[in-house]
Amino acid sequence: MTALALCRFVHFLAAMAAFGSSAYLRLYAPADLRQALTPKIRRIAVAASLIALATAGLWLALQAASMADDPGAMIDPDTIADVLVDTRFGQAWILHLALAAALAAAALLAPRDAWMTIAVLSGLMLASLALVGHASMQTGVEGVLHRAGHALHLLTAGAWIGGLVPFVMCLDAAGRAALRRDAVTAMMRFSYWGHFVVATLVATGIVDIALTSGHAPLPPTTPYRVLLDVKIVIVAAMIGLALVNRYVLVPRLMARANALAALRALTLVNVGLGALVVALVSVFALLDPA
Ligand code: HEM
Repeated sequence: MTALALCRFVHFLAAMAAFGSSAYLRLYAPADLRQALTPKIRRIAVAASLIALATAGLWLALQAASMADDPGAMIDPDTIADVLVDTRFGQAWILHLALAAALAAAALLAPRDAWMTIAVLSGLMLASLALVGHASMQTGVEGVLHRAGHALHLLTAGAWIGGLVPFVMCLDAAGRAALRRDAVTAMMRFSYWGHFVVATLVATGIVDIALTSGHAPLPPTTPYRVLLDVKIVIVAAMIGLALVNRYVLVPRLMARANALAALRALTLVNVGLGALVVALVSVFALLDPA
């Protein structure tokens, strides 16, 4: 359980970093800024996609060990083949592994500015995680709704948390006269679209609660409910910080240098809180959602 939770944590973060940073560059960054940030973000995309591929393989091995109730099954090709062919998890994981491999190949081999390809592949890889876990429990219309809602939850979480990486780079770029205007434009766009992204994230989180356990996580009497409640409180704090960034600090960027330092500090706090949220979900989504 501990190893699987840790593996999930690293996998979620890598998938979100690849998706959020590539989508940010493709959708929000004007051409000059995109060109300036490409070398750094490309290195991040390569590292994130290789980590995602490695942890996808490890996740499969850990799942096989858990299903066989034998740690040795982690490296037993027959058990792993059985899991891949005979279980619903395995069939979903074949697709997930294929997408992770395609993403790693694209990050290593595609042209420097192939941000759309990287964003689409990492987005599909992230969304395909909705085919396993609690979201994949139901069948019929409810099953389709749960998987679709959860896929949207993962994508919006990735767009926000992963997008904070290039956002911090824009803060640095805003200190350079040649890139200042482009960097502020990209940050304003991220903040504007962030309203819709975060609203969808919260709405799909509520749908996830309704379709996973069927009731609000109150009173916090089970480990699942406690961790979910802590997650919701942290997300509320993150939204508060994002609103301060958007409505107090971003508009002052062109005029006041100290707004840049404050925005940087609050954004880094949100990066840390986002990682904490992902750590919590890496654990509690493995528990009984009672
Ligand atoms: C920063 C914001 C958020 C991030 C980064 C985030 C991230 C995630 C991730 C990565 C998962 C996938 C877990 C898995 O597939 O095993 C997940 C699931 C879930 N999230 Fe969120 N989430 C956020 C906000 C919210 C909010 C606001 C709510 C509730 C209103 C919520 C409720 C849930 C629920 C109920 C699940 C399903 C857990 C399960 O499978 O048992 N999330 N979240």
